[in-house]
Amino acid sequence: MQLTTLFATALFFLALLSGCSQRPESSLYQQLGGEDGIASITDGLLREIEQDQRIVHHFADTDIERFRKLLAEQLCELSGGPCRYSGGTMQQSHTGFNISLADYDALVDGLIKVMQQQKISISAQNQLLALLAPMYKDISYR
Ligand code: HEM
Repeated sequence: MQLTTLFATALFFLALLSGCSQRPESSLYQQLGGEDGIASITDGLLREIEQDQRIVHHFADTDIERFRKLLAEQLCELSGGPCRYSGGTMQQSHTGFNISLADYDALVDGLIKVMQQQKISISAQNQLLALLAPMYKDISYR
């Protein structure tokens, strides 16, 4: 093997190694517990919604299994995980539900409670909430 080829190969493996060692700490997806963590957050949030008289009426006609799957996909993709969200846009999905700022806050309250229970770090909680915040304009009624 030529010296340059050897050098290039060594560089390639070094880059690969450093990439692998940095990823788990830096990914929000990992901080949320990966696939299992996001499944637990989604299930926990569904339980919170179910018990929240302020917002549960919005979900009266919703296919909850479909909602669970899509919400988990969305949280996974948003946090940098390996999923692709396959649902509708936030605007399409929430039109006609008359969702207010108070409704949005109620759902976010539930999400924070669940993340606290699941011992997600405050930093990771804030990162996720910051990613969700801009969606408010598409979710709330106009
Ligand atoms: C952080 C904010 C929110 C996110 C990330 C979010 C995400 C989603 C997702 C991924 C879906 C499925 C989309 C689809 O069916 O294609 C959905 C549907 C739905 N969302 Fe939200 N949502 C949020 C806030 C809210 C709030 C505040 C309410 C009401 C209190 C709400 C009520 C609903 C309802 C009722 C559906 C089901 C619509 C249907 O049955 O077709 N969402 N949401």
